[in-house]
This record gives sequence, C-alpha cells and structure tokens, in this order.
Amino acid sequence: MAPPAAAGATSAAPPEEDMAGRYCIVTGCNGGIGYQVARGLMARGAHVVMACRNRGACEAAAEGLRAEGLRGTCACRSLDLTVTMWCMPGCWTGGPGPARPRPGRARSRDPLSSASPIPQDLDSVRAFAAQQRAELARAEPGAGAGADAAGAGGGAGRGRALDVLVNNAGVMGVPRPPGSPEPHLAANHTGPYLLTRLLLPALAPGSGRVVTVASRAHFWGGLRLRGGAGAGAGAGAAPEVEDDTHNWFFQYARSKLCNVLFTAELQRRHGHAAAARAAAGTAAGEAAGGSGPGLREAAAPPAKGASPLGLGCYAVSPGFVDTGIFRHLLPSWAQWLRAPLRPLVRSPEQGARVVVWAACSSSLQGRDALFLHDCREMQASPAARDPRLAAELWRASAALTGLPEEEEGEGEGAARGVRTESTSGGGKGTR
Ligand SMILES: NC(=O)c1ccc[n+]([C@@H]2O[C@H](COP(=O)([O-])OP(=O)(O)OC[C@H]3O[C@@H](n4cnc5c(N)ncnc54)[C@H](OP(=O)(O)O)[C@@H]3O)[C@@H](O)[C@H]2O)c1
Repeated sequence: MAPPAAAGATSAAPPEEDMAGRYCIVTGCNGGIGYQVARGLMARGAHVVMACRNRGACEAAAEGLRAEGLRGTCACRSLDLTVTMWCMPGCWTGGPGPARPRPGRARSRDPLSSASPIPQDLDSVRAFAAQQRAELARAEPGAGAGADAAGAGGGAGRGRALDVLVNNAGVMGVPRPPGSPEPHLAANHTGPYLLTRLLLPALAPGSGRVVTVASRAHFWGGLRLRGGAGAGAGAGAAPEVEDDTHNWFFQYARSKLCNVLFTAELQRRHGHAAAARAAAGTAAGEAAGGSGPGLREAAAPPAKGASPLGLGCYAVSPGFVDTGIFRHLLPSWAQWLRAPLRPLVRSPEQGARVVVWAACSSSLQGRDALFLHDCREMQASPAARDPRLAAELWRASAALTGLPEEEEGEGEGAARGVRTESTSGGGKGTR
C-alpha cells in the first residue's frame, strides 16, 4: 500500500477492475456522492441495489442511470437507517444488564434478540437485510441483473454472494427533535453498523468488500464511552456512547470517527490478515496483510466468534464535495451563498472516485487498509487507530442494536460453497 497521500495529490483514480456480474449494494444513492458511486459501479458492469429511504427519488435516479445506457443494471429497494427510538445514555433507566424502557416507551420485539431494547425504526434495516439475503439466496451464482430478477420472481437459483456493500448514506447538521437520539450517530453509524452486521453472512468470503464513506472530519471527532466491564459494571455489561456534545459539527465528526473505528474492528474480525492468521493457525498472517498504517489494527489479536471472512474493509474520505448534505446548514433562501464555494470543492463524481476505487480496485484485493483518501491510504487519526476504543464501540453498538457481540456460525457464502481462494498476499477470490 502506498504511503499517506502527499500534499497536493490529485484525486485521479487508478484503474479499477471490471465489475461485470458483481452484486453491489449502495446506500443513499438517489443523489450526491452515492448516485455517482452507483453510476461508477454500473459503468463497470455491476448490478447495483440502490438502497434509499425516498423511493420516488430512488426510482427517478435509477431511471436516469438506466437512460445513460451503462453496462450494468440497478434496482431500487427501500432502506431507512434512522433509528428514532434508539436511546442515548439517560434515555433508558437501569444499570448493568438488559436495560429497561422508561415508562410509556414502547419496545419492539425482534426475533434475533429479546435481551436488549430494540429501536423500532431498525425494522427498516432488518427488513432490507432480510430481503437482500433472500434475493441473494434465490439468485444464480454470478448473476448480476439476473439476481434481481430471481429475487423478484421467487426463482430457485443456487444462491450467490454479495460482492460489495457501500455504506454511503449520511447526514450533517440535522436538528435533533426533542427526546430522540443524536441523529448523526444514529444515521451515520448505528444504522450502518446494524446493516453491515446483518449482511456479513451474505458477503463473499475472501473477496467481499465493505466500503464505509467516512470523512477527514473524523480527525476532529471524539468518542467517550461509559460503563461496561472496565468500569466495574460487571463482566457482561456493554458500554454506552456518552452523549457529551451538542454542537452539530462535533456530532458529525464523532459519527465519522465511529465509521473509521467500526471499519478497524470489522477488519480485525473479518479482514484479510485475520483470515490469513486463522488459516495458518499461527501468527503467520502478520506477514500477509500488506503494509501501511492499517496494519496496526490488522495485527491485533484475533477476535472470538465465527471464522474471519477475509473481507476488504475500508473507510474512505471523498474530500469536500458539493452535495445536498449541507442543505441543513443554511436556510433555503441562503443556499445561493454556496455558489462562490463551488470552484473550491469537488463535484460528486470526483468525490465518488475513491469510493468506487475502494469497491473495485484490484490493487486492494487481499489487503487491509483502514482509511483511504484520493485513492491512496492515509493515516487515520490516533483515536481512529485505537484498537481498544474500536472494540468497545463494537460492543456498545451491538448492545444498542440487540445483536450478539460475536458473529454466529460461518458465512452463507461459505456454506453455499461459493468459490474462494486464499487472499493472503493479494490472491484473488471469486470477485
Ligand atoms: N459532501 C461532502 O463534502 C462529504 C465529505 C466527507 C464525507 N461525506 C460523506 O459522504 C456520504 C454521502 O454524502 P453526500 O455528500 O453525498 O450527501 P447527500 O447528497 O445529502 O446524500 C446523502 C444520502 O444519504 C441518504 N440518507 C440520509 N439519511 C438517511 C437515512 N436515515 N436512511 C437512508 N438514507 C439516508 C440521503 O437520502 P435523502 O435524499 O432521502 O435525504 C441521500 O441519499 C455521507 O456519509 C457523508 O458523511 C460527504
């Protein structure tokens, strides 16, 4: 892996792999960077599931992409990552162990776990993940557009794996309605965390990728966790994110820090070096994950739980991009103030380059790299490289979303016999 980008580096993208027959999911792609990511993947032949909360805007975006005559295909699916019933510390009463809802607060039931309070709006994430796993299970191996047709028609394919999940959807500067969770953390981290965890078993072992659109704003982010076993609350207690900032920028920066920390922990659990170590049964994997700043996480002790899947897990920074994400920062009558800044910022297409590169580049195959900017690895902030913080955030997020901390069982791709080869040292799988 290349060293951190030098000052003045351009965002010209190195060549990417052909994506014909690959199955990709991109969240929040009815506009902005996500739209261009979907476009870039389709241009390379992929089938893209456009996961958006606004179905009308999604269908309009899909029509626009289809009208371009790109090689790939796309399909719209509904997904809302917002978790309005999710609670920050103080929202629930009760100490260690399963939290109890405040009087009058509804608690939804969920088949995956009944031990934790489940936010009601996570139902959209759960429904989407279940739908995707079912569609993938019904699809023909290697099918792109056919996978969608099989899913829609209830076909009886032999199943295929998910190749790429792009966690792109995000918000900035949104107001916080009284009594609701901090919206940046909820939409930018907690929802994507749950989505990724639920889709992990569907990802192609050895070649699947999880690309999370973070930001250099994470350098300004701080994350404090309270409680948990380390605080003497008991061995099974999970920590909670401290709701200690009320400034929208630092809330956004914290959520982007969470994106990088989540990627680091995902990499430690399911990255290429973790898979190589597991395959070797020794510490030999330390030599297999390439080189670069991301290795600090990759070389951490293996996590308990299911076998590492050997995924490419990347947090990416698109740069400063002119999109609708800033719409909450100015009243609509003052949006014209953005115009003078346009020459200084990137277009959504330029911002999407690093995301598409992280999803496609053959130069990343089999390698762990934590944070990518300008299509190169960049050293993430010290906080983002703290393996203990990453592990604690994983635990806190698992507790909040009602998931077990550890993955259970092997990936479905492996169970279905999806062909993969060892990826250590840059080998190729089925991608
Ligand atoms: N623009 C930048 O300068 C910049 C810099 C660094 C990082 N980023 C990151 O890039 C990503 C994309 O942002 P963007 O600049 O392209 O902004 P954008 O144009 O506002 O696009 C954000 C997308 O996320 C969707 N979304 C928001 N909340 C959602 C939710 N709860 N559930 C489902 N979808 C949701 C939006 O849907 P709706 O259309 O329905 O709102 C929209 O499709 C974000 O993660 C952002 O943090 C952007």
